[in-house]
Order: sequence, then structure tokens, then C-alpha cells
Amino acid sequence: MSNSIFLLNQSVADELSAVHQYMYFHFHLADQGYGPLAELFKKTAIVEMGHVETLAERILFLKGEVEMLASSPVEKITDPAAMLARAIEMEQSSARDYNVAAQKCGADADAASKRVFESLVGDEEGHQDQFEKQLENIKRFGPAYLALQSFGAASEK
Ligand SMILES: [Fe+2]
Ligand SMILES: [Fe+2]
Repeated sequence: MSNSIFLLNQSVADELSAVHQYMYFHFHLADQGYGPLAELFKKTAIVEMGHVETLAERILFLKGEVEMLASSPVEKITDPAAMLARAIEMEQSSARDYNVAAQKCGADADAASKRVFESLVGDEEGHQDQFEKQLENIKRFGPAYLALQSFGAASEK
């Protein structure tokens, strides 16, 4: 199971990077007045934190240690469309990595780690879908989309 522990720790690093990156996007979007998109990144960062927890629980069950190191530094992206494009790439790359990890754990007769990775793939594809919808709206309706979304949210309150 040492292979699984290595794969699980690599994924913890990937998830921690996502938490940091999405929180960075969250503060910048909130600062720019784009409340709903800021909230989407915050909500997604919290889900990624839950992924760290799921992975960590599995590592501890396998008697490994959780290496709490992010895999990459935060990228200083402040343009909303560029944030979404980067987030879509991150989700795609996580889903690819987790699919491979699930296969490796399966081949290694570790069905429970395989299931953990498979459930993460589903979540990351859901995030990708949400980010793609936002980016498509910006492309269809122009940059004013985010401002209108924010006014819409404010008038609902
Ligand atoms: Fe995740
Ligand atoms: Fe994700």
C-alpha cells in the first residue's frame, strides 16, 4: 500500500494548491465587486478542503503520514476570465491524475483508495462544469456579465 500512500499524498498537495489558488481568486473577486463568482470560488475551495480531509483519513488508515505541502505556489491571476480558464485547467488535470491513481490503486488491490479517487474525479468534473458555464457566459454576454450577475444577487437580498 506504500504506492497508494504516495499517490494519496500527491493528491493532498494538489488539493492544498487548489484551496490556496481558489481562496486567492475569492478575495480578488470580492475586492472587484463580483460577489457571486467570488462565492463560487470560496464554496469550491471548501469542497477541496474536504478532499484533503478524505485523502488524509485514507493515508492514516494505511498507517502513512500526511505531508501537508502544496504542490505549486499561488498564481497571481486577477482577471476573472483568466481565473476561470486556469481553474478549468486545474480541474481537468486533477481529474486526469485521479483517474490514473484510481487505476493504479485498483491494480495494487487497494479497492478503497480506488473508490476515494473515483469519487474525487466526479467532484472535480462537477467543478470544471461550473467554471465552464461561468466562462461561457462571460464570452457570450461580454465582461458586463459579471457586473450584471452581482447586481442581480444584490437586488435579490
Ligand atoms: Fe479536489
Ligand atoms: Fe475541484
